Amino acid sequence: MEYGKLVLDRYSCRKLTDAPVEQEKIDYIIRCATSAPTAVNYQPVRIWVAKSDEAKRCIAESTRFTFGAGVFMVVGAKADGAWVRPADSENFAVVDASIVATQLMLAIHDCGLRSTWVGKFDPQVLKAAFPEMNDYNLIAIFPIGYPAPDAEPSDRHSQRKDIVAEI
Ligand SMILES: Cc1cc2nc3c(=O)[nH]c(=O)nc-3n(C[C@H](O)[C@H](O)[C@H](O)COP(=O)(O)O)c2cc1C
Repeated sequence: MEYGKLVLDRYSCRKLTDAPVEQEKIDYIIRCATSAPTAVNYQPVRIWVAKSDEAKRCIAESTRFTFGAGVFMVVGAKADGAWVRPADSENFAVVDASIVATQLMLAIHDCGLRSTWVGKFDPQVLKAAFPEMNDYNLIAIFPIGYPAPDAEPSDRHSQRKDIVAEI
C-alpha cells in the first residue's frame, strides 16, 4: 500500500475474527520490523511471537486488551545494549523499540491484518512465565488478526491535536 494511504488508513482495530493468520504474513511483518533504524544500529530490541496456547493464555492474563486475536507480538527494549547519548546519558532503547514497533504495526495493516498497540498490560505476568523477557522493558503487545466485518475506528481516532509549532 502507498505510504500516505497506509498511515491514514490505519486505526486501532479492537474487533478481530478467529481466521488464522498466515505464516507468510507473520514473516513479512517481522521483516518490516527488523529493518527499522536504531541508534548506532545496536538493535537492542526483541520481538516475541506468541502463537502457543500457553503464551496466549499468559497474555490474556496480563491484559484485557486481546480483542479475539489468534497471534500476538510482544516488543521489548533492552537498556543494556542500547546507545547512550554522551551529552546527557539518555538511553535510546525505548526509542529504538518504538521505531521497530511502529514499523511492525504498519506492516500488519499493510498486509490486510489489523491490530492495536497495547501498552496497558502487566509486564510482570509475562516475565514470570517467560524469564527471557526479564532483561527487557516490554513496551507493546500487538494482538493480530483479520478485522471483524463490523470493526471500526473509535471516536478517538479522528481527534487530533495541532502538534506542530513554527520556531
Ligand atoms: C503507546 C500506546 C499504548 C496504547 N495502549 C493501548 C491499550 O492498552 N489499549 C487500547 O485499547 N489501545 C491502546 N492504544 C491505542 C490508542 O488508544 C490509539 O492509538 C489512540 O486512541 C488513537 O486511535 P487510533 O489508533 O485508532 O488512531 C495505545 C497506543 C499507543 C501508541
